[in-house]
Order: sequence, then structure tokens, then C-alpha cells
Amino acid sequence: MPTAAIIGGGVIGSAWASRFLLHGWEVRFHDPAPNSETVLRKVLDKARRWVPEVYDQLPAEGALTVCGSIAHAVSFADWVQESTPERLEIKHSVLGEIQASCPAETIVASSTSGFMPSELQAGSSRPDRILVAHPYNPVYLLPIVEVVSSTVLAEETVQHAEALLSDIGMKPITLRAEIPAHVGDRLLEAVWREALWLIKDGVATTQQIDDIMTHGFGLRWAQKGLFETYRTAGGEAGMKHFLEQFGPCLQWPWTKLTDVPDLDEELIDRIVEQSDAQAAGRSVSELEEERDANLVAMLKALRQQDTAAGAFLNRLGASP
Ligand SMILES: NC(=O)c1ccc[n+]([C@@H]2O[C@H](COP(=O)([O-])OP(=O)(O)OC[C@H]3O[C@@H](n4cnc5c(N)ncnc54)[C@H](O)[C@@H]3O)[C@@H](O)[C@H]2O)c1
Repeated sequence: MPTAAIIGGGVIGSAWASRFLLHGWEVRFHDPAPNSETVLRKVLDKARRWVPEVYDQLPAEGALTVCGSIAHAVSFADWVQESTPERLEIKHSVLGEIQASCPAETIVASSTSGFMPSELQAGSSRPDRILVAHPYNPVYLLPIVEVVSSTVLAEETVQHAEALLSDIGMKPITLRAEIPAHVGDRLLEAVWREALWLIKDGVATTQQIDDIMTHGFGLRWAQKGLFETYRTAGGEAGMKHFLEQFGPCLQWPWTKLTDVPDLDEELIDRIVEQSDAQAAGRSVSELEEERDANLVAMLKALRQQDTAAGAFLNRLGASP
């Protein structure tokens, strides 16, 4: 069985560990936090419940070993997934410790949402084995992973990474260049920036913004994305007509563009207060439960339609 070492087991690392285990890999897990194994087992329970609903041809679950040190976890790993806090000095120190003990050829992938591979590689003696594999939460259910390399990586290393990620039921998208925050988070950052302004200016509440997304364009995005959605908005003439008609609006001063409001105490308090009201007493765990149940239902529906992520899952051999 191939072995993955999971270094850092918070929200993302525990979900990576669950994905690898449920796709038949051995997992060696290390996180120094005293409650890390409890966190992992809670996430693994959720994954065991939901993943078989989506991927119904899973191998036997792999074995989990909780390790007391990075060296112990990575010593014979085929893949290392680093998911420590988003601070460059922590990443550098952890990546150094990993590469001091893992096999020379092992790929060390970082889950970082923001740092570029070349930033992570600085100071490494084997920078050509470090890349970014950026997943989306919950990692055990969402198949997408952004693979980001840099000029020091060989094409074969990137292809090897893509093959390993495909083996755990993921759809790797390899980016053509490294940029801070990759692609998905760049798009989300633009949405966040506008949402902050809308709340700060008192135009809409967190509930109203979420309703507009969940009852409207959010439904479109899960199955057609941005470009195919607007291709249909252009009528039979398609994208060219759409861009001629609506493209100029993108330059009108509708948005705040790259201006970011100060996230001062007042704005933070306003968002937190509105978000608490919106949650109406539901705990984060209850919200996660709703999220996972909804994602599974949507993935099943997309499989029935053989479209988007559903088509991808069908091609993996899962039956609708
Ligand atoms: N949360 C998200 O939605 C999300 C999505 C994609 C990627 N990411 C990225 O994943 C990474 C982890 O984010 P998270 O949300 O899981 O954070 P988190 O705070 O939930 O987890 C970080 C974990 O790292 C552990 N840790 C700290 N120092 C360590 C060390 N020296 N060795 C091993 N473990 C150590 C902590 O104990 C903690 O459990 C970040 O780089 C983040 O940008 C997060």
C-alpha cells in the first residue's frame, strides 16, 4: 500500500488524512496539538459516513498510524502533505524537518492557500520536490485540487503528483504559473472584498448576501461555472455576443475594484453579529453536517445528469 504522511492535522490536514485512508492509502499522521487525534477521529467519522455515498467503489480502508514526530511520520512516505498554519516561518521550519527525514524522491506538497511554491522552496536543499497541492474544504468530498509548481520542478514530477492525486479520487488542475493565492482563492477574494463593502456600507446583511448566492448564481456555479453560464446568457450567438453586450459594464464603477475596506473592530463586530443571527444557534458541527449532506445530494444529482463534478465521478467508475 502507498503511504501518505500528513503533517498538520487541523481542518484541512485531518480531512486529507481521511481522504487518503478511505482511498486505501496507509496514513502516518503528525500534529503536536494535544487534541489532534480527537480532531482527526471526528473528521474521519464524518468522512466514513459520507464518502461511500459519493465514491461507491472504494478500496479497503488504509491503516492509520499516529506519530509523535515529523521524522517518524515521513521516514518512508510516498507523499507528504503539509497542512500547518499559514505562516511562512512555520512552513519553512516544517518543510526543512520533513525533507531531513523523508526519502529523497518523495514529493512534499503544501496545502497553502496563499504562498507560491518558490516562496516555500527558499532555503530547501531539494526545492524540486516541493509543490503546492491546494484543496477545498471539505477535502474528503470536494474532488478539486490545484497543483502549483515552479520553474525548478521537472515535468515528470508534476505528472507524478497528478497521478497520485488522481489515485485518491481527485481532479488535479495544474496551473500554468505560480501566483499568490493560486486561482480559486483569487476569485473568492474578489467576492469577499465586495461582500465586505456591501456590509460596511449597510447595503445588505450576511444573510441577504448568502441568500442571493444560494438561491441564485450559486446554483448555477456548481454545474456550469462562470464562463459556460454566461455563454448561455449571450443567447444563440454565445460568448462573443455576451462580451460585446455586457463586457463594457465590467469597466463601469459598479464595484469597489481592488479597494479593500479596513477590517476594523466595528466591521468585524457587525459581520460576527449578523453571522451569529444567521446561524440561529446552530453549532459549527451542525452546519458542517448540513453542508456535507447537501454536497452529497448535489454530487449525486450531478452524477445523474452526468455533468461537471458528477461526470468526473462517473468516469471514476462510481455508479449513479
Ligand atoms: N481552512 C481552509 O478552508 C483551507 C482550505 C485550503 C487550504 N488551507 C490551508 O491549509 C493549511 C492549514 O489550514 P487549516 O485551516 O487546517 O489550519 P488549522 O489551524 O485548522 O490547522 C493547522 C494545524 O497545524 C498544526 N501544527 C502547528 N504547528 C505544527 C508543526 N510544527 N507540525 C505539525 N503540525 C503543526 C496545529 O496544531 C493545527 O492542528 C494552511 O496553509 C491553509 O492556508 C486551508
